Order: sequence, then C-alpha cells, then structure tokens
Amino acid sequence: MVKPDGVQRGLTGEIIKRIENKGFKIVAMRLSVMSEERAKKHYEEHVGKKFYQALVDFITSGPSVQMVVEGKGSIAAMRKMNGATNPAEAAPGTIRGDLGIETGRNVVHGSDSPESAKREIELHFRPEEIVAFQRIDEAWLYE
Ligand code: RTP
Ligand code: MG
Repeated sequence: MVKPDGVQRGLTGEIIKRIENKGFKIVAMRLSVMSEERAKKHYEEHVGKKFYQALVDFITSGPSVQMVVEGKGSIAAMRKMNGATNPAEAAPGTIRGDLGIETGRNVVHGSDSPESAKREIELHFRPEEIVAFQRIDEAWLYE
C-alpha cells in the first residue's frame, strides 16, 4: 500500500515503477480513503500500542493506494524493497530509505507474512477484483 503521505507527495508512480521494474505483477489496485472500520481491521495486530490511534488516524486521513503484488518471493522481497520501519534506519535503495524521514510517515505498507497477506487481501479486495494475467516478460524473469 502507498500510504496517504506517499499519495499526497506524488510518489505513487515512483513506487509502482519500482514494483514493476523488479518484475512483480500488480494484479489488483485501488485508490481510496480507508474507512475507520477497515483501518482498525487492517491494523488489529497493533491494538493497545501507543502509536495505534495515531496510525489509524493517519491511514484514514486521505487517499491511499492498495495493491496486490504477485511474484516469486514477493512478500519478503516487498518488505526488503520497503526497507526498515523507521526511514532513518532504512538502507539507501529502499523506498523508505530513499523517500522518507520519520516512522509515522514511512510512505508504504507491506504484508509481513503469507497469513497477513491473505488476511489483508481479503480485507481490501473482492475476489473478482484480483485479475490473473501473464506479463509478456515472464519467460525472461523466471528460469
Ligand atoms: P507496515 O506494517 O506499515 O508495513 O510497517 P512495518 O511492518 O515495518 O511496521 P509495523 O511494526 O507493522 O508498524 C506499522 C506502522 O505503524 C507505525 N509505527 N509507529 N511510533 C512508533 O513507534 C511506530 N511504530 C510503528 C509505522 O507507520 C509502521 O509502518
Ligand atoms: Mg507491519
């Protein structure tokens, strides 16, 4: 997901470009302002933490871009491409390392396991919104 700071800063294209250039496939995508109800479900693992309410307020504060990214190893690779949670600690070359400054404005979200990816995909997309297609370059991306 491109978070509201990323959308407001005009970074959506830059982030999509990195995902596409890597070779991953965006099989679903939507720009929307997340409802409070959906945001609370999205971040239910963080209930009770001191940053929880600020996080819910932030993620619902403006449009974000939700995506389903597909490809071999995509969950772990997207986490690496996103970089450390705190942009100050994120390596150069990562999205947060290159484009962010503070933890609460770290530009992107990525699912952290197959289980959370499944849960988050089901929260944000209906099955018919996920489109199966082949990229023309798949023969050159996979051995
Ligand atoms: P994300 O879920 O957004 O991909 O980030 P993450 O796994 O690297 O970090 P996570 O621990 O899941 O935290 C979710 C988001 O909450 C905000 N946060 N603030 N103030 C703080 O100590 C703090 N810690 C986390 C960040 O926006 C983080 O991305
Ligand atoms: Mg997380």
